[in-house]
Amino acid sequence: MASVDHSLNLMGIDHIDLLLVHRPDPMMDHHETGAALDEVIASGKVRSVGVSNFRPWDWELLQSAMKNTLATNQIELSVLAHHSFTNGDVAFHQKNATPMMAWSPLAGGNLFNGQNDAVTAALDAIARDRGVDVSAVAVAWLLAHPSKILPVMGTNNLSRISRLSDACDVKLDRQEWYEIYTAALGHEVP
Ligand SMILES: NC(=O)c1ccc[n+]([C@@H]2O[C@H](COP(=O)([O-])OP(=O)(O)OC[C@H]3O[C@@H](n4cnc5c(N)ncnc54)[C@H](OP(=O)(O)O)[C@@H]3O)[C@@H](O)[C@H]2O)c1
Repeated sequence: MASVDHSLNLMGIDHIDLLLVHRPDPMMDHHETGAALDEVIASGKVRSVGVSNFRPWDWELLQSAMKNTLATNQIELSVLAHHSFTNGDVAFHQKNATPMMAWSPLAGGNLFNGQNDAVTAALDAIARDRGVDVSAVAVAWLLAHPSKILPVMGTNNLSRISRLSDACDVKLDRQEWYEIYTAALGHEVP
């Protein structure tokens, strides 16, 4: 509650559109936390509440003690951090039709530092074919997923943001999606 008041004061605003709980708390009393989150919404200080880095069981625990519906889970998702596609996290939210936000959708810039040549080559082949930047293909790879992922971009560079917006026009088919995925895995998909 104090954190919400502090953020409102710092930003000089009267409400927060979306408040995220940054990570699971192994000591969480879900009744206490759930009631506090419902209260900040009831007070009008916060419009909606979500979480970040929650596993499905963390989500269900907190949600079970809340009147309001959690709006989103912000998790790490990128070509270089694809574990959530197969560990049940994406499947959980896809089944429940909960929007997922992707943090570090360009792996925090690590896609472009020369450490992952096979992945860069796979992205680059499609980028050249479509006449867009490699970064736009990396984001298009997330947007292609049927769970309707919402990437949270990190750059404040206007020309990079402009190039990233091309991702909305790049439609990847399953073959292309798997070419990038295979490069990221480092082996053929059985
Ligand atoms: N919930 C969590 O636990 C968690 C954890 C990490 C991050 N986040 C959130 O996720 C947001 C995005 O994370 P992120 O900053 O790691 O995102 P990102 O979009 O994956 O990476 C952005 C970084 O990539 C660099 N970059 C290099 N080439 C680029 C290109 N062609 N286009 C765009 N960027 C390029 C950027 O540099 P320049 O800035 O110089 O352009 C910037 O340092 C953060 O702002 C934060 O709010 C959340």
